[in-house]
Amino acid sequence: MLLTFGGRSYALRAGESVLDVLARHGVGLPSACRAGACHTCLLRAEAGDPGEAGQEGLKPALRASGYFLACLARPATDVTVAPAASDIFTPATLLRRERLAADVLAVWLRPHRPVGFRAGQHVTLTRGDGIIRPYSIANLPSEADRDGMEFHLRIYPQGAMSGWLATARQGTELSIGIPTGQCFYLPGNPTAPLLLAGTGTGIAPLLAIARDAQASGHRGPVILVHGASEPDRLYLGEQAPRDCTAATGRPPARWRTCARSRGEDIVAAVAGEFSALADPMATRAYLCGGAGSVTRMRRALFMAGMSLRAIEADEFRPVASR
Ligand SMILES: Cc1cc2nc3c(=O)[nH]c(=O)nc-3n(C[C@H](O)[C@H](O)[C@H](O)COP(=O)(O)OP(=O)(O)OC[C@H]3O[C@@H](n4cnc5c(N)ncnc54)[C@H](O)[C@@H]3O)c2cc1C
Ligand code: FES
Repeated sequence: MLLTFGGRSYALRAGESVLDVLARHGVGLPSACRAGACHTCLLRAEAGDPGEAGQEGLKPALRASGYFLACLARPATDVTVAPAASDIFTPATLLRRERLAADVLAVWLRPHRPVGFRAGQHVTLTRGDGIIRPYSIANLPSEADRDGMEFHLRIYPQGAMSGWLATARQGTELSIGIPTGQCFYLPGNPTAPLLLAGTGTGIAPLLAIARDAQASGHRGPVILVHGASEPDRLYLGEQAPRDCTAATGRPPARWRTCARSRGEDIVAAVAGEFSALADPMATRAYLCGGAGSVTRMRRALFMAGMSLRAIEADEFRPVASR
């Protein structure tokens, strides 16, 4: 079997993903999660069948146009592939930015056409030179229509995207990928406890989910836990942020912060909050942030008796290659 990309053909080994065969031949595609979640590795089949596995979870229109995820795709026939076409990205303008802490930046982007998303989902942002990174959306669709789409970025000074956005001029153009991810509020059980725990900027999409739930009439307890290494990295403060109650006038049932340097462990805190719930088995959990913390929180909840099906998680893994 042959995979053709950029005019060159590469032999595919049985069971090898498109991402891996290209990497084996020194062709670096951007990738972060390697698990079908972030869509950083989206490609398009120009000829041949990329296989079902690579198209799982993609919208029907994308599948019909031959799009697939290179980290999952294991073609069983010869296939010719190309980068995603520019028309699936939405051009956007940098409206404004604000420092929320020494190393956290909020940016607002105005897409040139509406981007339909659910609070808590993520999109890829692409610079004009092709550098691509996934980011979770920090506001609700109605707020994005009014103010632009908001993102909270941890600034890495050498970061190709975060470091660049920290100094980019207002009016800079980027493009926004298709919203994706399962971290969003599901109406249907308005009394279920919601346990939302995030480290660093992982709290931003969780706050959006909590506000969306409250605005949708959710009546069950909403518990938010924010973790960071140092107290000054708890960039939303130690009290429940005001915008958490703005939608409904109701504060979350609980807002808890954990700073590792104070000996507070977010994993233990999350497990403790879960065990203290009156109806733990009805709980839905949402976890976001650094991959290590998310993995440990998920494991702790599972060990405490929670079904993995009731846990949605986004791991903020760095992008390899570009
Ligand atoms: C689904 C998903 C959602 C995400 N959502 C967000 C979000 O809402 N907010 C957010 O801030 N980030 C988020 N990320 C991470 C984001 O995509 C980038 O990886 C991050 O902003 C770094 O990109 P960069 O271009 O600035 O740095 P890069 O150019 O990729 O890296 C430059 C240097 O920064 C350092 N660095 C970068 N990432 C890390 C890391 N994770 N840990 C330690 N050092 C690192 C390394 O020294 C690296 O060499 C998300 C990731 C995923 C997969
Ligand atoms: S979807 Fe392929 S690397 Fe994330």
